[in-house]
Amino acid sequence: MATFSGNRGLQMEQPLIFEQGSPDRTAVDLPDVPAVGDRLGGLKRQQPVGLPGLSEPEVVRHYTRLSQKNYCIDSGLYPLGSCTMKHNPRLNEKLARLPGIGDLHPLQPVSTAQGALMIIDACARWLMALTGMPAVAMSPGAGAHGEFVGMAAIRAAHEDRGDARRRVLVPESAHGTNPATAVACGYAVEPIPANRRGRVDIGRLRAALAPDVAAIMVTNPNTCGLFETDILDIAAAAHDVGAYFYCDGANFNAIVGRVRPGDLGVDAMHINLHKTFSTPHGGGGPGSGPVVLSAALAPYAPVPYVVNEGDGLSLVEYAAASDGKPCGRIKGFHGQFGMFVRALAYMMSMGSDGLKQAATDAVINANYVMARLKDVMTPSFDGPCMHEALFDDRFLKGSEITTLDFAKALIDEGYHPMTVYFPLIVPGAMLIEPTETESRQSLDRFIDVMRALAARAVAGDAERFRNAPRFTPRRRLDETSAARHPVLRWRTPAVDRAAE
Ligand SMILES: Cc1ncc(COP(=O)(O)O)c(C=O)c1O
Repeated sequence: MATFSGNRGLQMEQPLIFEQGSPDRTAVDLPDVPAVGDRLGGLKRQQPVGLPGLSEPEVVRHYTRLSQKNYCIDSGLYPLGSCTMKHNPRLNEKLARLPGIGDLHPLQPVSTAQGALMIIDACARWLMALTGMPAVAMSPGAGAHGEFVGMAAIRAAHEDRGDARRRVLVPESAHGTNPATAVACGYAVEPIPANRRGRVDIGRLRAALAPDVAAIMVTNPNTCGLFETDILDIAAAAHDVGAYFYCDGANFNAIVGRVRPGDLGVDAMHINLHKTFSTPHGGGGPGSGPVVLSAALAPYAPVPYVVNEGDGLSLVEYAAASDGKPCGRIKGFHGQFGMFVRALAYMMSMGSDGLKQAATDAVINANYVMARLKDVMTPSFDGPCMHEALFDDRFLKGSEITTLDFAKALIDEGYHPMTVYFPLIVPGAMLIEPTETESRQSLDRFIDVMRALAARAVAGDAERFRNAPRFTPRRRLDETSAARHPVLRWRTPAVDRAAE
């Protein structure tokens, strides 16, 4: 088995910058400052500030070493399920940095920013064409932000008809942002259980639907990495009681170019540009989560939006200037413009056939991982998966090794762990999303490591797993109490593993 030795930077202890150098050294030669005694009304520093004094190479080395402690997609396969940690083509970056694009100011007069509006408009048109939806709000700054806009539009549409509704139905397999969004929009959330096949239990859904339901929120492909095979019936059942169908489209990367959500009866769906269109994740931002809307919801799209009437592009900035009934403004300025540039560069360089191929490859890669690991780990559900392969901890039964221990041991093998304990309906879940950007060789290396780890776990090397990670500057934090938390151990009777 490969041992972790590739990245020495990860292993080395790194002193704080304050523990290095000396306060009386500096990397710059500043001129003497003339007396400034009274500039702050007599306030004078009583003691040295204590800033570290380092030379330029020392500063560069410090931050370079720190950066090397961070596992990133540029250093290796990153199997974090649900997050789609895939390569971001450098071409996107190059275009986003072009002078005239990178230097734009959001307060520039619209007449001097026609090219930027064309980019927003072109990106919007691609998204509408790929989803088969007639409208899109580009401004949301993340997937969850897009969810909020979609649900705000749904609320505005109901209220506009004097039909204020109370409940939103959310499957238990939903991403956590879905119920949070519904609550943030003022709704009561009612969970819908999953069936034994990891899909929405449509019988239970039908039973919960009533004229006070504003919407159902369904992730498709869902958080178990499975396509919701009853999706047409789900949409029809919601529409029958006058509810809207919100689809969490974060996993659109598995179906783009193959299925148009508009053809499935979806009324609103956010798209995480980073997951499907290869824009960077950022550390909590800058993200981008445009939300596509059906004709019924289009009038409630938030401002601002770009209008293209053939004789130049303009921006509708305020609700009063809109033809529709905007549900508000969700963000300052016009959304994450730099992400639109990157996403458009990706779409244009891939073409619609290339996007379809990327989705196909993502699904093939996940199924390859599933096929090569299913004899040593336990797949949570039968049959092929979409873009992510879901396993759980049954193969560890009797070993005293938990999902958490297994994930920590993977760090010592040089990989970022897979997503663990999510989705919540699968106890001890391990969700692996290899993405389309990994080669066969890269997948094989990862699979070999996983197989060897599984064999070692079953052979009873519990102590080693519990002590992992051993080669990182910081060892394990106190996460064991979290792993034993009742919520993380919780399961619904429907998915209970009778065969355990
Ligand atoms: C299924 C699903 N829904 C919603 C989100 C939320 O997106 P964001 O983190 O951009 O707010 C994610 C994030 O990856 C997701 O995987």
